[in-house]
Amino acid sequence: MTLRAVVRGVGHFLPARVVENAEFEASLDTTDEWIKSRSGIERRHFATESDTTSSMATAAAQAALKDAGMDVDDIDAIVVATSTADLTFPSAATMVQAQLGMERGFAFDVQAVCAGFVYALSNANALILSGQAERVMVIGAETFSKIMDWTDRSTCVLFGDGAGAVFLEAQDGAGTSADRGILATDLNSDGRHRDLLYVDGGVSTGTSGYLRMQGNQVFRHAVEKLASTAHTAMDRAGVTADDVTWVVPHQANIRIIQGTAKKMNVPMERVVVTVQDHGNTSAASIPLALSTARARGQIKDGDLVVTEAIGGGLAWGSVVLRW
Ligand code: ACO
Repeated sequence: MTLRAVVRGVGHFLPARVVENAEFEASLDTTDEWIKSRSGIERRHFATESDTTSSMATAAAQAALKDAGMDVDDIDAIVVATSTADLTFPSAATMVQAQLGMERGFAFDVQAVCAGFVYALSNANALILSGQAERVMVIGAETFSKIMDWTDRSTCVLFGDGAGAVFLEAQDGAGTSADRGILATDLNSDGRHRDLLYVDGGVSTGTSGYLRMQGNQVFRHAVEKLASTAHTAMDRAGVTADDVTWVVPHQANIRIIQGTAKKMNVPMERVVVTVQDHGNTSAASIPLALSTARARGQIKDGDLVVTEAIGGGLAWGSVVLRW
């Protein structure tokens, strides 16, 4: 018998405010056509007055619990992937714990920017495999609208807000790639690239700061590193491109998604794409895409799913799982 971290439920929350590309044309030297053709993004959701990273994360967790048919008392641990926690501390995860009414277990944040959700999934998997928790709520939640420089057309048109959650449970498997659950993970970072993508604020400046990105430089790293990490995780899982039912990539840019799928030898018909409706929601993008794909009827029980993501750090990684 091999212990596996199996997906029991998935859910998401998107704030009510939807902003179409054309809305930026009034305040910036940009066009719907530029944004769509360069990034694939058509619209995004932005937090309203009443939405925070923790409130959206809580709503996504509640949806995942409902999907799993379980309740708050069944959660042993909460891991929240975010770079936009409500406050410097306490963690978004402990805020979610309180908002859910959970009075036991433990909760903590993982910060790996857009790669945050694959880092959080990998850490949750390790908690389960090491026996520290049986059921873990893994959440990606972001309010990137709070760290946008609204005068910078090269970044503010690309990002959105939202949250997604996946509820994992320890189950016995046979130790083969036919098992349900997380089959393999691969994590990487290279801190030499910090200037490609960062926020120019924090405790050293006394401000929360704004996102700064050399988009075309990040782009250069993205396809190669994403395909490479996906291949590493697939090799570890003992699966090939032909076995993959769905690639669920980080939703930053349709051209990165297409380039990576091509390098992975997976046709676009087997890639989940939500970037047109959500924009880049950083750590929330993969769980949002997983939940959306389930709602669309794309991902079915038993499907082999490969997730991959890259973001500030640079940090990147991949998780292979059978739903
Ligand atoms: N509207 C019109 N023109 C624009 C806009 C805009 N909104 N933004 C930039 N431009 C201009 C630039 O000024 C530049 O003009 P110039 O040639 O006169 O200097 C021109 O468009 C081309 O700019 P590039 O940055 O070279 O355009 P590119 O084709 O690379 O697309 C983009 C830009 C969409 C940002 C792309 O590089 C990208 O998606 N990069 C990767 C982003 C990413 O994956 N980030 C990682 C995750 S995010 C995270 O971790 C937080």
